[in-house]
Amino acid sequence: MLDPVSPVSTTIRDLFMLVFGVIGIIFVVTEGALVWSMIRFRSKGNETTEPPQIYGSNPIELAWTVIPILIVLVLFLVTTRTIYSLDLQEPPEGALRVKATGHQWWWEFEYEDLGITTAGELHVPKGVPVFVELRSFDVIHSFWVPRLAGKIDAIPNRENHLWFQADKVGTWYGQCAEFCGTQHAKMLIRVISEDEDDFDSWVANQQLDAVEIPEALSGKDTFLSLACVNCHNIDGVMLQGGFAPNLTHLMSRETIASGAAENTPENLKKWLRDPNSIKDGCLMPNMMLSEEQIDLLVGYLTTLK
Ligand code: CUA
Repeated sequence: MLDPVSPVSTTIRDLFMLVFGVIGIIFVVTEGALVWSMIRFRSKGNETTEPPQIYGSNPIELAWTVIPILIVLVLFLVTTRTIYSLDLQEPPEGALRVKATGHQWWWEFEYEDLGITTAGELHVPKGVPVFVELRSFDVIHSFWVPRLAGKIDAIPNRENHLWFQADKVGTWYGQCAEFCGTQHAKMLIRVISEDEDDFDSWVANQQLDAVEIPEALSGKDTFLSLACVNCHNIDGVMLQGGFAPNLTHLMSRETIASGAAENTPENLKKWLRDPNSIKDGCLMPNMMLSEEQIDLLVGYLTTLK
């Protein structure tokens, strides 16, 4: 948050530093006065009577009422001005629109204008504003990538917005920031900002239907014969699920299970053997698959580039 890479998070950092500066000065002044009084008026050990007792002082009481009110008023004004300046209801000029839906416990990203649905990892072009329409499929989640933008809740039956613009190429980590159940802690977000060429080739690949490789056909048949199809979509193969991440280009993602594990054949096998071993309490059931079925499925899934 203190090292922003987006105009939105830079504005938030600047507000944070202003507020932190003001409260820092207040801390030093009040604690300084306290310590000074303790030393200045400490017992010298030779008092025989109480020191003079003083009650009430209109000028002092007026000062310690009016000054805090003025400080709070200034902080209130700069904060509301920042909140309103960042809260766009419409996408900024030339923005990329993305629909982000919070699910227990993963994020779905849909680029409706581009015809792309993916999960866990949000690819964006560097230096282009991104307008995120936030929704929830089930309970309240919160989308927070600190180096890009402030956190905004994803609330069922309501659409919230946020925007950011990644001004550098890189991977920016985020996290669901509203407690949403067992695996809230592993509801991670990766925003991957790329040069325009890299982003365009990512888009072109994501728009393709799933590849068909003859060697993986028995794995595909295994996939289609199991309950996988009730929840997972694969474009060009199977479109009736949608409760779970779209697998069309699974291997283009660095991670599985919303960032909980690296996307490797070993982890895919571990996940299929028992999803709870990676994410305890996750909503994908243990399908009680045989090792042979797991090998066939992973053989198929790893072709989905
Ligand atoms: Cu979703 Cu916490």
